[in-house]
Amino acid sequence: MGERDNFSNRFGALVALIGSAVGLGNLWRFPYLVGRNGGAAFIIIYICIVLVICLPLMLCEMVVGRRSKSNVFGAFRKLAPGSHWNIIGILAVLSAVTILSFYSVVGGWTLAYLVKSLGFGFHAVAKGDGAAFSGIFKDFVTSPVQPLLYTLAFMAITGFVVIFGVNRGIEKTSKWMMPIMLVMIVGIVIWSMTLPGSSAGFRYLFKPDFSHVGWNTVLAALGQAFFSLSLGAGTIMTYASYIRKDENILRISAGTVLGDTVFAILAGCAIMPAVFSYGVSPAQGPGLVFVVLPNIFANMPMGSIIAIMFFIILFFAAITSSISLMEVPVAFLIEECHMKRKTAVLVSFVSILALGCVCSLSQGVLGGVKIFGKSIFDFFDFMSANIFMTIGGLLLVIFVGWKLGKAAFKDEMTNGGRLHGANWLLDFFFFIIKFAAPAVIAVIFFTNLI
Ligand code: TRP
Repeated sequence: MGERDNFSNRFGALVALIGSAVGLGNLWRFPYLVGRNGGAAFIIIYICIVLVICLPLMLCEMVVGRRSKSNVFGAFRKLAPGSHWNIIGILAVLSAVTILSFYSVVGGWTLAYLVKSLGFGFHAVAKGDGAAFSGIFKDFVTSPVQPLLYTLAFMAITGFVVIFGVNRGIEKTSKWMMPIMLVMIVGIVIWSMTLPGSSAGFRYLFKPDFSHVGWNTVLAALGQAFFSLSLGAGTIMTYASYIRKDENILRISAGTVLGDTVFAILAGCAIMPAVFSYGVSPAQGPGLVFVVLPNIFANMPMGSIIAIMFFIILFFAAITSSISLMEVPVAFLIEECHMKRKTAVLVSFVSILALGCVCSLSQGVLGGVKIFGKSIFDFFDFMSANIFMTIGGLLLVIFVGWKLGKAAFKDEMTNGGRLHGANWLLDFFFFIIKFAAPAVIAVIFFTNLI
């Protein structure tokens, strides 16, 4: 098998992890959720949840990954030989593959819209004709061939990066994509602020309104934080297995959480002021980025340039998340099935693409096929978010809290006692991992089922 790759330093690990975390979740789901759930009230709740529940969860993945230096399955063979804990690894691979199956379809859409914006395609449509834009989007996603080709292209790019491995593929790509994204999104935020009437957008985002806050708000924030931080599908665990033994994984985790949250808020500040300035309603999900925004771009001064920048951001965000998802099955196939990296990528590429095609077609020709009353696309989303990821996450915190134990947790977090200073913090996080996190995840699991 040879030497395992490592991220070359802390910065390399950090950009790769932030690259995984910052994705479609930040750019289209977060801004909408904020507006709908009481603005700053939601942001405050979100940040609390991220710090109190999600950061400890991330530490669990970090500890298991870096301590074992193995893929998600082998990790448990090393840390708990002869046990059945490696079922967590199986669940992680299943989560990663199902998520990527529909993520790659949306990734394909971002690529398609990037190509359209590069051809200045949005100006060709009648200005301000909202129906025309939703028509274009519907026609595109329901057509049988075009979206498949874009999904194929998106997965091919993902595979191409992953083939080059951790260092020359994942790290190198993240190192140039992430700074470009940051500069561009800051640029759009500044430009957004100059639009007439943009302050309504900022009010929508930041005016704290606790009257809407309830149990549902907390659940929405939890689900969003889970997805946005790439938890529960083995991506953090896999990346952590490439972090050197002398790096401070508490700092790296905190940096990842900070980077992801800042990016989500920047995305809100880029999108919502423009939406309000043009007096359109902030729709959810695909509608926002693929219908509402193109309509705005077509109408505004310099809209073509902003459109190109925006779809580059969206595409980069999707690609850096997608490579982290693909690395989960790839590392598994390399280390457990003794495949060469090239073969492992090819096997993952073909299987995910096949599932992705089915997901894509379920938007159109296969729209009539329902599993438990859901389209195939929604079913994949449901299975990964509500079944595989939650059960996997639950088992993982139980594993770290009750099987691996506090001594091993602290040993790994402090690099064998060489790092000092965060003792009480580690005690606090371990307490959460052992008692609070399993309870919270179990509640989410059952609430989502009913
Ligand atoms: N976090 C990414 C986003 O916000 C998506 C993602 C990557 C993900 N890896 C994951 C989600 C693992 C859940 C689990 O779009």
